[in-house]
Amino acid sequence: MSAQIELSNIEKHYGAFHALKNVSLTIEKGSFVALVGPSGCGKSTLLRSIAGLETISGGTLKIAGAVMTGVPPRKRDVAMVFQSYALYPHMTVEENLTYSLRLHGVGKAEAKAKAAEVAATTGLSALLKRYPRELSGGQRQRVAMGRAIIRNPKAFLFDEPLSNLDAALRVHMRKEIRALHDRLGATSVYVTHDQIEAMTMADHVVVMRDGVIEQQGSPLELYDTPVSKFVAGFIGSPAMNFVPGTIAADGQSVRLELEGNPVLPLGRTMEVGRQVMVGLRPEHLVIAEGGDVALQLPVAVVESTGSMTYVATNTTPELTVVETRRTHLQAGNTIGITIDPGHIHMFDPTTGLAI
Ligand SMILES: Nc1ncnc2c1ncn2[C@@H]1O[C@H](COP(=O)(O)OP(=O)(O)OP(=O)(O)O)[C@@H](O)[C@H]1O
Ligand SMILES: [Mg+2]
Repeated sequence: MSAQIELSNIEKHYGAFHALKNVSLTIEKGSFVALVGPSGCGKSTLLRSIAGLETISGGTLKIAGAVMTGVPPRKRDVAMVFQSYALYPHMTVEENLTYSLRLHGVGKAEAKAKAAEVAATTGLSALLKRYPRELSGGQRQRVAMGRAIIRNPKAFLFDEPLSNLDAALRVHMRKEIRALHDRLGATSVYVTHDQIEAMTMADHVVVMRDGVIEQQGSPLELYDTPVSKFVAGFIGSPAMNFVPGTIAADGQSVRLELEGNPVLPLGRTMEVGRQVMVGLRPEHLVIAEGGDVALQLPVAVVESTGSMTYVATNTTPELTVVETRRTHLQAGNTIGITIDPGHIHMFDPTTGLAI
């Protein structure tokens, strides 16, 4: 039975190190929440705190409305799935699936029936008699998930479960995990440092930085209205371009600190002379012909993936432009760029906060 998880003002100290700082987050029953952020920002610490594998130093953690202070991991009724599958090598898939049930005193026949049911859900029915060494990485990951599912937990906690798999399998498994979540009506918390994984899988994305929740919201909220340069640079691929600038004398445009000091119309009025950090997503820099382009940029490198072309400009700072049409561009060419003023992001250069 899936449950809501409620974190209020959670603190975690490891000795002098402050790993979680005033973290408040509500994970709705039945939702899929992704925790993202750079290495060391506290994602695993937060997940382990929910599981009860870490003792929180302050704040309140509730699962299904019950305060978890002093409740040991096995009584919290949550299941963790890790990157390392930690399957028992000397047990078959079926034995791996039923192990925890048997440990909890479930009879052999009932455990076997449950294993068959979970195997059907996870596509393992034909593999029940195999040993882990006889499985592919994706199949092992499915056994690890099956082991979590069989306990019918209140929530699934995933810590980078796909990072050992190759790119194609990752894409496949992220769809499988999300489909499974929907089918089970589960509550899932999913840690990843891959923002694409977070954006594609989750209903709600939480961006962490140095133990703090920097921003949380739906994937497109984070993409469209990042609260800070940090979130703006973290969400979106390729990453947002940043160029320092100054609001021009008309208050309606920004002069960029880029070769030739081009001026971009803003479509809004700002304080004349204000220093800003301008954020431009690569996919919002539109290559165009003709006289009324906003920027003229020399091309340094052209990379084509077939479906897309990435253009790096020979400017300081270097800008990345994404083009989905076929181009015959090459290094040394000059491209004209138009930008919809609605797509221009601006941040305070000192605080990094969105303006
Ligand atoms: N037992 C511990 N004692 C002291 N510091 C710890 C301990 N566990 C984690 N930390 C520190 O807490 C911070 C957060 O660690 P955590 O494992 O939560 O990061 P993470 O976001 O999961 O990173 P990654 O993406 O690399 O897995 C890190 O700076 C880490 O060094
Ligand atoms: Mg981690």
